[in-house]
Amino acid sequence: METHDDLIRRDLAVIWHPCSQMSEYIAGDLPLAPIASGEGAWLVGTDGRRYLDAISSWWVNLFGHANKYIASVVAAQAHALEHCIFAGFTHKQAIRLAERIIKIAPRGLTKVFFADNGSAAVEVAIKMAFHIFANRGEQREIIVSLAGGYHGETLGALAAGDVEIYRETYAPLLFKGVRAKSPAIVSEAEALDDLRRILSENKGKVCAVIAEPLVQCAGAMAMFEPSYLCGLRSLCDEFGVLWIADEIATGFGRTGAMFACDLAGVTPDLMTLSKGLTGGFLPLALTLARAEIYDEFARESYGARSFLHSHSYSGNPLACAAANASLDIFENRDVIGDNAKLGAAIDRRLSVLRGFSCVSGVRRRGMIAAFEADFAERGDSLLQGRALTIKIINESLVRGIILRPLGNTIYIMPPYIITAAEIDLLFDQIEDILKTLENYAAKRS
Ligand SMILES: Cc1ncc(COP(=O)(O)O)c(C=O)c1O
Repeated sequence: METHDDLIRRDLAVIWHPCSQMSEYIAGDLPLAPIASGEGAWLVGTDGRRYLDAISSWWVNLFGHANKYIASVVAAQAHALEHCIFAGFTHKQAIRLAERIIKIAPRGLTKVFFADNGSAAVEVAIKMAFHIFANRGEQREIIVSLAGGYHGETLGALAAGDVEIYRETYAPLLFKGVRAKSPAIVSEAEALDDLRRILSENKGKVCAVIAEPLVQCAGAMAMFEPSYLCGLRSLCDEFGVLWIADEIATGFGRTGAMFACDLAGVTPDLMTLSKGLTGGFLPLALTLARAEIYDEFARESYGARSFLHSHSYSGNPLACAAANASLDIFENRDVIGDNAKLGAAIDRRLSVLRGFSCVSGVRRRGMIAAFEADFAERGDSLLQGRALTIKIINESLVRGIILRPLGNTIYIMPPYIITAAEIDLLFDQIEDILKTLENYAAKRS
């Protein structure tokens, strides 16, 4: 029989994990946990240990692991049609998904382009924005993005992003964008002034502004108010540039509305979706476009002026079936209303965290809550930087919860089926971790 330890050994012999420094697993600084199954908000290890998935497995899971309803819909689809080429062919699951997404998306986004991961959806949006101006005879090479923004790992998405640790090595390969100040860091007025300055200094050179609405997730869960998005929308209109809203992390109820843009009542020109789109079941991504953008391309004949982007698995029927099943759940339950109640339960526990001397910046937007844990004043290098992250991950795993801090930002982004009791359990463990770290720091100082 295969033991848990065998699986770890075999994995480390052959697998190169994402967003990981493999030597940390090999040295045993970070554990690698083989998972056998999932149920609700929990993942179950091959050694039987249970982990409360407080981060929805990289923000994708909405309705629980191995959700029985979504699993049954995907299984039925697998027996009918697992995949077919999506150029020149179509299928019911994709058509139904596109129709339903258009109904719930911000008004005016009426065309749907399919890809298979978030970064690809961002590449599609950037290429569409550049290409539409190129077709009009304008070479607009600048993408403006927000300081601290994150849009994925492929080269175009990385170029638009601003999380140094992921992009610095590849900087020579990346197109040069322009960063606007983020309203999560400076005041909204200053951020909008900065955007205005950039757009007016680069008239005729900018094709799009890309921004994550309301929460810059990988940028340490930096949050800002919806009113900034109204200002962003009008500046894009005034200067005739497109706005790409990257709702890959914020979409599907994460921020307290179906889409974060809804909270500002604005419609972007292009919008990217992935992650929660399939309820966390299968990889799928969409780039939504205004009809005018689609129409301009549709008028062209086949060739360099057409939008010929493609992926082999574009519109995969299994992934579309999962997305349709996830939307069924949204239709059959008041997910957003129920999340608001969970949000109140989260707030009650966040207010306790404010009492910890190491905690600052406590904040929540919908089903995303975050704070900073800071032990730096004690000058202890074991409780700073990567060492702190590793310590928190280890402390969380031994307590049966999954946290993945971003630097010293600790956040939770749980699946929507988490119960109030599980929220309490999660915060009990977080408080225990903070107490342990404070004691540890006190002993060393
Ligand atoms: C806002 C945002 N855009 C794009 C991406 C990239 O998505 P993917 O990891 O599916 O490529 C992410 C992933 O975290 C994200 O948070």
